[in-house]
Amino acid sequence: MATLIGGLGSSHVPSIGAAMDKGLTQTDDWKPFFDGIGPGRDWVAANRPDVAVVVFNDHGNSFFLDKVPTFAIGCAERYDPIDEGWGPRAIPSFEGHADLGWHVVDRMVENRFDPMIVQEIEVDHGLQVPMELFFGKPETAWPVRVVPVFVNVIQYPIPLPSRCYELGQVLRRAIESFPGDERVVVIGTGGLSHQLQGARAGFTNPEADREFLRDIAANPGRLAALSREDYVRLFGSEGAELMMWLVMRGAMDPEVVVKHSHYYVPASMTGAGMLVLENRAA
Ligand code: DHB
Ligand code: FE
Repeated sequence: MATLIGGLGSSHVPSIGAAMDKGLTQTDDWKPFFDGIGPGRDWVAANRPDVAVVVFNDHGNSFFLDKVPTFAIGCAERYDPIDEGWGPRAIPSFEGHADLGWHVVDRMVENRFDPMIVQEIEVDHGLQVPMELFFGKPETAWPVRVVPVFVNVIQYPIPLPSRCYELGQVLRRAIESFPGDERVVVIGTGGLSHQLQGARAGFTNPEADREFLRDIAANPGRLAALSREDYVRLFGSEGAELMMWLVMRGAMDPEVVVKHSHYYVPASMTGAGMLVLENRAA
């Protein structure tokens, strides 16, 4: 059976990708953020996953507001990076793991989650940027296959934090019942605190972000019990993306070890973080 070897968390700020594209990672603005990602990359290189299950939200790029699934699972053999308006980026397409995608859908349905099934879609910065942060920018091919898990945190009503946590528990059972020998990581993306629009545009909350990074490892029940309104209040309207880290955390054991944690604010308009968790039993 496939093995879950770790849970990773990462912001997905698009200008992190642009900074890497333009060779700006060592500028005064970006160096403090990029200085903290090395241990995450090293962990991935040392632990050699075969598959990344990437929990992220599309930002109106592939799903516009006319059609927004609450939860959707990628069951495609390939995902092209979408052009978000600045032209195509020089990164390879993502090879999918369709069999694992279908298996996840099946386990979700059996557990009374009823996701949308996606067989053709392009993926935006929500998936691209965390992949680049953990795996680096490959010349030809990414070293892992991906299963995208789309969560709606854009069009209200968005799902409950507790529901996201439960989805992670189902994801864990799906991974561990998949007939294969793949080594799998689950990546939760988005956040940390940011608000890109409205009266609180520019809002960040470093104190709440640091508490989140601590409790997502040590006390995820507290974060799963918060309301959607709590997420918006504490982390900003776009900071509600942090609910997707609960999917990742729900896939892990109750007891985890923090292998790496990094926080820097602001990256663009966002409190930016990276986290690497292993199950304590492992
Ligand atoms: C920014 C952050 C995001 O999570 C996002 O999806 C878009 C922009 C930002 O801080 O610029
Ligand atoms: Fe986002």
